[in-house]
Amino acid sequence: MLVAQNHEVTVPQDLLLRLADARQRTDELFHLVKSDSLYERPIPERHRIIFYIGHVEAFDWNLLGNRVFGLKSFHPEFDRLFAFGIDPVGGGLPDDKPADWPAQDQVYGYAAKIRQLLDGHLRKETSPAGLDEFSLNTLLNVAIEHRLMHAETLAYMLHQLPLDRKMAPSTGRSVITTEPVRPRMIEIPAGPITLGLERSRTAFGWDNEYDAHTVDVPAFAIDQYKVTNRQYLEFLQAGSYQSKDLWPADGWNWITANNVSHPIFWKRSGDSWLYRGMFDEVPLPLDASVYVSHAEAKAYGRWAGKDLPTEAEWQRAAYATGDGNASQRAYPWGNAAPNERLGNFDFSAWDPTPVNSFPDGNSAFGVADLLGNGWEWTSTPFAPFAGFEPFPFYRGYSADFFDGKHFVMKGGSARTAACMLRSSFRNWFQPHYQYVYAGFRCVSR
Ligand SMILES: [Fe+2]
Repeated sequence: MLVAQNHEVTVPQDLLLRLADARQRTDELFHLVKSDSLYERPIPERHRIIFYIGHVEAFDWNLLGNRVFGLKSFHPEFDRLFAFGIDPVGGGLPDDKPADWPAQDQVYGYAAKIRQLLDGHLRKETSPAGLDEFSLNTLLNVAIEHRLMHAETLAYMLHQLPLDRKMAPSTGRSVITTEPVRPRMIEIPAGPITLGLERSRTAFGWDNEYDAHTVDVPAFAIDQYKVTNRQYLEFLQAGSYQSKDLWPADGWNWITANNVSHPIFWKRSGDSWLYRGMFDEVPLPLDASVYVSHAEAKAYGRWAGKDLPTEAEWQRAAYATGDGNASQRAYPWGNAAPNERLGNFDFSAWDPTPVNSFPDGNSAFGVADLLGNGWEWTSTPFAPFAGFEPFPFYRGYSADFFDGKHFVMKGGSARTAACMLRSSFRNWFQPHYQYVYAGFRCVSR
């Protein structure tokens, strides 16, 4: 429980600006969808699009409305209906119909009223419930990052919507061309690395980022670049989707039961392959990162005689200073804040760029493209660090997924907000979920 204090604290204006910016991100996404398509379900394992219009607002309301401002619900039924997304484990896909959901204008009306009520109180610049400053900052950061995560997962979802059901925005990054990628591996000597985030009164982190701890990582070699479409095509052309011995047992069952024969972002066109971009289908960009599920990444690794990195190996390749002590960088490239010269992230593009587009973003060891341009699967099941405590106001955020059926991903995609590029941020998905902007690189030990 958050303890009410007798004094009022100022609502930080920088967080209000960030909340406004995050709202703009999710608003823009819903505006990409033609209004007659808002009841579509582009990903079978997820809700229909209309749910998310209500969800991103209901989440803020359920988090802040009563707890911070003492406000009473004006629509308890919608507060519950739009409270939580879904991630079915082991089948059990949702089977609701469009008619099971409220009309668009009701959902938009509910969303608008929440913003109006919350903003009326946030703009008064004080928290009447008298939370201390740290608690209020934490809650606002949770609201902002939750919404920004949805800005990314909604992009995956709308990616799967047929092209004629969405409208491309007029702006976008211009196409980047590079020298052909020359894959190589980089030796990483044995040494320490810190995982997690130090508890402090200033930095925000989610529950699963705590506690910080240092681990010793034995020597290994890692791909300088993420695996490209060119490399993955070679794997596919070797008949790998028909070779049972390359696949983890549950991965083989999954591809055979679902007729998975190529990455979901690829489409066969005669004798060649297209990349299914967000707004366009284009010839497969051979030097861009392939996006695949964990099971496909594992099978590639076995075919190549390599493996996926552990979370600790990935972290060390990305953040160690390379001088043998435990110090590390804030970002792979150093301590400068993320900017558009350092990687494909923070909404700068809709689709991946060649994996060698941003040499200024390389780590101390020379490993490239670690932040942005596609998350990277690790071999580490998502589990708590020692000292983990769930947020009392959102107990299930991480704990609901400590089931051995989700794997840690590190890095970020083109649609990952800059604030979530911090070194301690952890993402996780099920091994057969194909829709994430996620690729991988391999290690040898
Ligand atoms: Fe959510």
